[in-house]
Amino acid sequence: MMYTTNLLLLLAFTGSAVAAFPTKLIYQSPTGVFLENIAIRPSSKLLITSAQLPTLFTLDPNAASATLNEIYTFPNSTSLTGIVEYRPDVYAIVASELNLTAISAPPGSVVIWSVDLTSGSPVARPAARIPQSTLTNGLSSVPGHPDLVLAADSDLGAAYEVNMRTGAVRVKTQDPALAAGAPAPPALGINGLHVRDGSLYFTNTQQGTFARVPLRGGTVEVLGDLKPFGLSGGYDDFAFDVEGRAWVATHPGTLQLFTPLANGTWVQETAVGDPAGSMVVNVPTAAAFGRKGSRKTKILYVTTETGQIVAVDTGAKA
Ligand SMILES: *[C@@H]1O[C@H](CO)[C@@H](O)[C@H](O)[C@H]1NC(C)=O
Ligand SMILES: *[C@@H]1O[C@H](CO)[C@@H](O)[C@H](O)[C@H]1NC(C)=O
Ligand SMILES: *[C@@H]1O[C@H](CO)[C@@H](O)[C@H](O)[C@H]1NC(C)=O
Repeated sequence: MMYTTNLLLLLAFTGSAVAAFPTKLIYQSPTGVFLENIAIRPSSKLLITSAQLPTLFTLDPNAASATLNEIYTFPNSTSLTGIVEYRPDVYAIVASELNLTAISAPPGSVVIWSVDLTSGSPVARPAARIPQSTLTNGLSSVPGHPDLVLAADSDLGAAYEVNMRTGAVRVKTQDPALAAGAPAPPALGINGLHVRDGSLYFTNTQQGTFARVPLRGGTVEVLGDLKPFGLSGGYDDFAFDVEGRAWVATHPGTLQLFTPLANGTWVQETAVGDPAGSMVVNVPTAAAFGRKGSRKTKILYVTTETGQIVAVDTGAKA
């Protein structure tokens, strides 16, 4: 297996905070379909959503020539966004009639589905509806609460708590830090969100921030900002590694790595790609770590708007 090393990038950015991690393109959609989000099954197979299709796909990252295979197509939907495993091998998935030109879905079209893959064939059911939402984006599980997921509303600047068993939906957090701060759509506020150690971590695409807020409520703390770093574009979804670092898919062409320091500050560096744009991760949308074995948990799988699935070896630094 050959990994491409971003040597040129390393040379071009010597002196600034740039690390280059080896990458490998494991799939390129022949039609360049917009891949939106990703989850990894206990078997280590990938689950992939597309914002352009109402179909959940799977891909075996270890296949010699990986292909996207259909798992389930959702009725009354044109688009899928967030996906998260909320019980072992059972997933919450956002389906809607998202119009990618308007970057908006008709109110009433957003449904959070549950897809159970524990038996031989997928068992899907609409679990909850968010009638007021015109763009429900990322999803997070809630450790210790196997019926709950959190869902990001990029237009209304809110995080919802969704009960996958009862269908109950309530606003968990709504704050200017989650809003776009500009007319939405097309501006997007909160995009990816993940619960870790009692905090809700999230990105805000329009505001260019990576931030957290205590789950029980409290003040939003901004941990990273695109603007002082000199990056245009926006943060999308992200994944935490076992060391507590966050790997953030960042438009147009990087993974930004946030590392917490002992004194409570976070440092940001470009881990993969080029802040000016990159074919290596060409408009990355989401990331998730491999499963099964210490080696595989170092592999980060990244989806992109241009139909790429890229494996990043986060255990090796070029
Ligand atoms: C899809 O829409 C049709 C027509 O509105 C409706 O009868 C049906 O129940 C919907 N299906 C689901 C799964 O929501
Ligand atoms: C999507 O949005 C665009 C821009 O608002 C609009 O022109 C187009 O008709 C919409 N498409 C559908 C299928 O509604
Ligand atoms: C935190 O530690 C880093 C690395 O030692 C240092 O550069 C930074 O200035 C410190 N920040 C604060 C607020 O103490």
